[in-house]
Amino acid sequence: MWVESKLFLSIDELKPGMITAEAVFNSFGNVLLWDNTVLNDQMINHLKNMGILTVAVYKHQQHEITDTARMAEENVRRFAAEYENDARHTKKIFEEISSGKRLNKEEADNIADSVIKKAGNNRYIIDSVMQVRNVDEYTYYHSINVSLLCMMIGKWMKLSEKDINNLTLAGLLHDIGKTKIAPEILNKPGKLTDSEFEEIKRHSEYGYYILKETAGIPAEVATAILTHHEKEDGSGYPMGLTGDQLNLYSKIITVADIFDAMTAKRIYKNNDTPFKVFELMQHGSFGVLDPLVLKTFLENVTGYYVGSKVRLNTEEIGEVVFMNKLDFSRPVVLVNNRYVDTMVSKTEKIVEFL
Ligand SMILES: [Fe+2]
Ligand SMILES: [Fe+2]
Repeated sequence: MWVESKLFLSIDELKPGMITAEAVFNSFGNVLLWDNTVLNDQMINHLKNMGILTVAVYKHQQHEITDTARMAEENVRRFAAEYENDARHTKKIFEEISSGKRLNKEEADNIADSVIKKAGNNRYIIDSVMQVRNVDEYTYYHSINVSLLCMMIGKWMKLSEKDINNLTLAGLLHDIGKTKIAPEILNKPGKLTDSEFEEIKRHSEYGYYILKETAGIPAEVATAILTHHEKEDGSGYPMGLTGDQLNLYSKIITVADIFDAMTAKRIYKNNDTPFKVFELMQHGSFGVLDPLVLKTFLENVTGYYVGSKVRLNTEEIGEVVFMNKLDFSRPVVLVNNRYVDTMVSKTEKIVEFL
């Protein structure tokens, strides 16, 4: 997205408003700040405190900080518009299937292409995943989010271009079977009866059949959709398969799906903070997940929460400045010029993500 060349500045030359051109790491290889982060005073001070000497920023910003800020705003706007557009098109292909038509494969490929083009804009992706969603539109945004997260995980795992394309499409279509479930059950606000729950669980199979009758869908994509609620230890559905029987696409969708579903802010449902979700995922609260996929996801995604504002149980507001690799749910928070390591502190913990 940024075409300007990089400039390596000493820490004392950094100014608020400059944008990092590369991630900044500490001596242990942990990320302190990601690329494309707009620096503020607090971040610059933090980098100083952590002993960072030089930081790569985009060149043109040196004199034209306001221009850069405008350009950053424009990029956010463009990303948001494309994201909304992708969700609208997803809604269209889902509604067509509900009305008895076949899956429009070409349209699905177009959306997947648009998702893949967003590679490299991970910060915007994470921000979008965290937005509040209307309950009726949830499935479409969830589909786009899972597709984006699958694409990111595929890149982090250094999969082939073909695999990343397939994975992005599989993420987009993973819940397509929900189009065959009655809206009264799907959007029911209260508790589901056992038989309603069983019906919802059938969306994996419905999705598989929809894809099986669509020309040009790779077999592994259809299989991944059939098994996206299976778990490594055999506790999932519909068949109770174990990790050795699941393909990599399926394992990746499962991780992306859980993360989006748990962090989504919805009416009728309190979302958990991303930190709480990291903890639950690490401790197997959603069933056992593939260890390599989970590790790759957590090690990469957690860095994007550096800079987030959080509320502590002491009612103080702080900024996440450092993720603990041993426990991603307990980062170091800067509160009123004081570093609180929530992994070590016995009294202070994060209660809200702002
Ligand atoms: Fe699902
Ligand atoms: Fe899902």
